[in-house]
This record gives sequence, structure tokens and C-alpha cells, in this order.
Amino acid sequence: MTEPASYDIKVNGEIETVIAPAEETLLTVLRERLNLTGAKRGCDQGVCGTCTVLINGEPVRACLTLAALCEGVEITTIEGLGRPDQLSAVQQSFIDAGGIQCGFCASGMILTVSSILNNNPEANEDDIREAISGNICRCTGYAKIVEAAVNAAGQMGGASR
Ligand code: FES
Ligand code: FES
Repeated sequence: MTEPASYDIKVNGEIETVIAPAEETLLTVLRERLNLTGAKRGCDQGVCGTCTVLINGEPVRACLTLAALCEGVEITTIEGLGRPDQLSAVQQSFIDAGGIQCGFCASGMILTVSSILNNNPEANEDDIREAISGNICRCTGYAKIVEAAVNAAGQMGGASR
């Protein structure tokens, strides 16, 4: 373990000063130092997608990302996507369509879907399926997840199936 490093990262619009070993991942910093536990630790090897957060609007694996290298970027976690009293369209759509079972994959799924719909308002079902292909749902609720994403796309003015 190296000497602690001090650096600033911007999470959900707030600058956070972190003092932590330089090798600590973004997932560990978010969950264990900033108490943002929405990003889940699944495989911890970059395979399952449960740790997905957005960096400058693009999905990344927080378990493979060094937090100390995240200075100067915008990090968005599920906690910053909407508020409990004002969920984002994608969050609400997942609830309405029953796209959440145990919920372990949900934050990664919702952030990934949010990213593709923000980047491509015309995204169709195939685009959505491709976008979430790196996010594993161990409850295998893919049909409802895709339905939720397609519904959200429709609400956001995007293409349909
Ligand atoms: S915990 Fe990061 S990809 Fe599985
Ligand atoms: S809802 Fe349980 S892992 Fe996807």
C-alpha cells in the first residue's frame, strides 16, 4: 500500500476531497469513503457491470477505474441521476415496467440506459440491447429491463421497437 494521496473529484455536481491510497478504485472511494453505495461491487473484475457509473456521460466500470485519475471529470452515480421525489424518466420507467427484481444490477443498468438515450435520442430496441449487453442481471429480468428502457426512450422522444 502506498502513501495516501489527496485529490479532488466531482461527483454528482459536488467537489469531494479524497485522501486515500492512490491505488484505490473509484468504486471503493464512492462506496467506502463517500458513502455512495448505489454502485454495487459484483465481480470486481470488469465483467458484470454492476459498478457502472457515468464519467462525462459515458458508462465506465468503477471497479476498473482509479479514483485518483478522475480529477477534472464529471462523475455521475445513481444517487445523482434523480431525487427520491423526482426520479429521472429512466428510473421511473424501470419501476413502472417492473425492471427491478433484487435491484443489484439496477443502478448500472439505469445509468447505462440513461447514457445511450442521452447520447442517441433515436435509440431503438436493438441499440438498447447492445448498450446493456455488458450489464449482467443475475435475476435474468432482461425482458422487463428492455421494456423499461424502450418505454423511457419513447417518453424522451426516441424511437420505438
Ligand atoms: S463489479 Fe465492476 S464490472 Fe463487476
Ligand atoms: S434485478 Fe437482480 S440482478 Fe438484476
